[in-house]
Amino acid sequence: MMTFTNIRTLREQLKETRFTAATKGKQIKIALVPTMGFLHEGHASLLRKARAENDLVVLSIFVNPIQFGPNEDFERYPRDPEKDLALAEREGVDFVFLPSVEEMYPQPTRTGIKVADLTDVLCGASRPGHFDGVTTVVGKLLHIVQPDRAYFGQKDAQQVAVIAQMVLDLNFDVEIVPCPIVREADGLALSSRNVYLSAEERQAALVLSRSLLAAQAKADTVANVTAGEVLAELRDSIGAEPLAVIDYVEIAEFPGLAPVAGGDRIDVSERRSDVLIAVAVKFGNTRLIDNVILTKKVND
Ligand code: PAJ
Repeated sequence: MMTFTNIRTLREQLKETRFTAATKGKQIKIALVPTMGFLHEGHASLLRKARAENDLVVLSIFVNPIQFGPNEDFERYPRDPEKDLALAEREGVDFVFLPSVEEMYPQPTRTGIKVADLTDVLCGASRPGHFDGVTTVVGKLLHIVQPDRAYFGQKDAQQVAVIAQMVLDLNFDVEIVPCPIVREADGLALSSRNVYLSAEERQAALVLSRSLLAAQAKADTVANVTAGEVLAELRDSIGAEPLAVIDYVEIAEFPGLAPVAGGDRIDVSERRSDVLIAVAVKFGNTRLIDNVILTKKVND
């Protein structure tokens, strides 16, 4: 495994690796797994899939300042590069890219990528500018590495939708590969931010996966059920947890993210697109997100 902090050196090494393979008549497939580090099993699942599907796996670890709002947790975002490198090594990563903020943003950036509409809803509504920071850094990383495939978790379902739209609109020559949410045995979706939770808050946070799975079961089994009915039950169930402060609880089409009207049926027989049920809820100072995606009726 090789580590890089410098963009030029990484690019040169990638070029050489591609060239060496080409001289042997082989076109190698390169995977990029972008992360902000403090790696856990969720990140590891992306690395494993990338490893299985490609010849070379590039992991980037960069806590991207421009995707954090002024009152958010950029400064205290958890970091543990040594542990991250050990996990990367274990998962068979070839190249780790660990740039500094100065390397990625040597001057205040005047150029950015903004995806319209999809970024106005859900997390975009509560975190203005967040997705502009995400698309700008992911755009930079895709230009630097030029991977054949890039891997993203459905834990951040809106992020997947926004990046897929960016890649489509700007003709990035890369396949975006969405990966399922990895959860703890008790249901809590893995997140680098889970370390912020007190024992009491962590216990309370289980309400998210429990309520979302109940919502999914209801939508999948109850005939004629509407989005409004599923939402009301979900809001009640999360609202009943005293430590939970709801930011949003919503149902939207996926990946288009258009809101689903309360009167619309979302039972299996009526689903015309995949449907995202997404929540963002604060426990103390920690904002957690989680979701389930209901898949559309097959044979539509
Ligand atoms: P980060 O939060 O570190 O997440 C990196 C990748 O891991 C994302 O694609 C995220 O969806 C995925 N991931 C996190 N928790 C997961 C879980 N429990 N199951 C499956 N996948 C999970 O998302 C970011 O970083 C940043 O916004 C980034 C894309 C790197 C741009 O800065």
